Amino acid sequence: MVLSFYVHIPYCIKRCGYCDFNTYTPNELQDGASLEIVSNDYIDAVLLELDAAPSDEVPTIFFGGGTPSLLPAKDLGRVISAIKARNGMTADCEITLEANPDSVTEEKLQGYLAAGFNRISFGMQSAQPHVLAVLDRTHNPANVKRAVDMARAAGFESISVDLIYGTPGESLDDWRATVTEALSLDIDHISAYALIVETGTKLAAQIKRGDLTMPIDDLMADMYLLVDQMCNGAGLNWYELSNWSKPGHECQHNIAYWKSANWWGLGPGAHSHIDKKRFWNVKHPTAYKQKLFAKESPVAESENLTEEQLRDEAIMLAIRMRTGLALSSLNKQGQDNLQAYIATGHVVISDAQIQLTAQGRLIADRLVREALG
Ligand SMILES: C[S@@+](CC[C@H](N)C(=O)[O-])C[C@H]1O[C@@H](n2cnc3c(N)ncnc32)[C@H](O)[C@@H]1O
Ligand code: SF4
Repeated sequence: MVLSFYVHIPYCIKRCGYCDFNTYTPNELQDGASLEIVSNDYIDAVLLELDAAPSDEVPTIFFGGGTPSLLPAKDLGRVISAIKARNGMTADCEITLEANPDSVTEEKLQGYLAAGFNRISFGMQSAQPHVLAVLDRTHNPANVKRAVDMARAAGFESISVDLIYGTPGESLDDWRATVTEALSLDIDHISAYALIVETGTKLAAQIKRGDLTMPIDDLMADMYLLVDQMCNGAGLNWYELSNWSKPGHECQHNIAYWKSANWWGLGPGAHSHIDKKRFWNVKHPTAYKQKLFAKESPVAESENLTEEQLRDEAIMLAIRMRTGLALSSLNKQGQDNLQAYIATGHVVISDAQIQLTAQGRLIADRLVREALG
């Protein structure tokens, strides 16, 4: 067995209006405090949690957030070194840093490489200033090219950007310009997500008040088909519903999730999946640190997955991938239900694997619910 690690870094300088990730600004954690103050003993807590994890060899580590690139390389490097010393890493272990294009410098990037990172993912979201403004993002679009070029010059082997489509006020031409700009960068991988309006966010309030209107489903579908076509045309092939990469640059960490492998999430609110059990930590960084410094477990809740849950989850995850789902994993009823979707061109069968076409990917969730249930 192998074990992937997710390391949560729960800090951002400012909360973007659409985001409900488990992240905090220094001021939210402690009145008037700086990032250095609120995060100073955070890595100590993470290292204490690491003691409880299994000791299998590690094929991937992913530092996500929040904004991991706010922390210095020496801090994140402590976690990498501890995992390496304790578990050992596979020779080609993928170590990813999620980064904000504004928060990297040449010196910092070199530090991250020296600490062991070999993959970096920048939150680009859009190349259009008016779209970034609605998303309430702080970065200047020109910083993305600067950050990508700096990361490449520093020696990162694999560079990705995250994009968001379907922002209120974003036209298909806006989205085309964003994807064109992303593909002009020296990158190997793109993740493109449809904007989700999360309850309780500033964006949700703006929509509720009628200040902003979400795009209609047809436009969202056209945006998905456009990014798919443009990426495939530029040599970045789709390998999961929302992810495209040059050959050999698929995100191995995400693939581990999608294949229901074992992973351990370190940090507040982080989820773990070990064999048939899922568990997750207390959400707030202060509670998380208190538990660990008091030598208590930070786990908030856990559940044992039933065979049925495991099967449903495996189906849902496998169908999202280009490799698809083994036809044999469906029962007779599921295989019969599938015929209608083959007739409408949403699904193809290749080498006894069920694979979604681009049209099928637009309705992946419905297809899983209706056809495969
Ligand atoms: C933790 S953030 C990435 C790192 C960094 N904090 C940043 O934003 O640049 C992970 C990604 O999730 C996506 N994301 C966050 N909230 C979203 C939402 N409401 N709808 C769609 N995508 C979202 C964004 O694309 C973002 O880049
Ligand atoms: S999108 Fe990224 S930078 Fe913005 S609040 Fe969420 S985690 Fe922080």
